[in-house]
Amino acid sequence: MSGTDNTARTATGADLPAIQTALAYALDWRGEGGWDSPAALIESSGHAYLLAGWGKTGDAAVIAVVQDRAVGAAWYRYWSKSLHSYGYIDDSTPEIGLGVDPDYRRQGVGTSLMTALLNLAVEHGVPSLSLSVECDNPAVRLYRNLGFEHYADVDDAWTMLRRLGS
Ligand SMILES: CC(C)(COP(=O)(O)OP(=O)(O)OC[C@H]1O[C@@H](n2cnc3c(N)ncnc32)[C@H](O)[C@@H]1OP(=O)(O)O)[C@@H](O)C(=O)NCCC(=O)NCCS
Repeated sequence: MSGTDNTARTATGADLPAIQTALAYALDWRGEGGWDSPAALIESSGHAYLLAGWGKTGDAAVIAVVQDRAVGAAWYRYWSKSLHSYGYIDDSTPEIGLGVDPDYRRQGVGTSLMTALLNLAVEHGVPSLSLSVECDNPAVRLYRNLGFEHYADVDDAWTMLRRLGS
């Protein structure tokens, strides 16, 4: 499909709902549905900790906007060995999350978001970024296209790493 005219902008504190919605898309990446709201899915699946206290030092996100509407988000956050998401490598490698509204997929939005997030990470002097993706998620192709490399197998998922700068 041809690219949608979208822009990815840096998130502000007011964008937490868009990031929560994107997290819900990521949790339900197979599109099984059956959830009433992003918050309900995040809470009931035990993932509220992933965005708890959002806005602390090191948190960063970008929002995809189409005709003034948020249609996706990508973000990263630092974790520790004792508390982390699924793609943890070490304390200095933030983990990425990504989700796009189903109506706007395959139009370049995810690529725009990830490109903007990588640029933001470079601006902030982040040395590398990681993520976790289930092996059968087509998002693997997107990540490979953007320079992410397989780092480790964790159950049915891959941890992928993107090194930035020198
Ligand atoms: C993964 C996701 C963010 C991609 O967003 P998107 O806006 O569709 O991404 P793009 O349009 O930039 O696609 C880039 C490339 O990724 C690959 N890709 C993405 N989705 C794909 C799919 N469903 N089937 C096959 N390839 C796909 C393709 O190579 C695509 O390029 P192409 O359309 O030129 O073939 C989106 O599908 C999504 O939100 N999925 C559910 C949540 C999720 O899986 N998040 C990631 C968890 S690790």
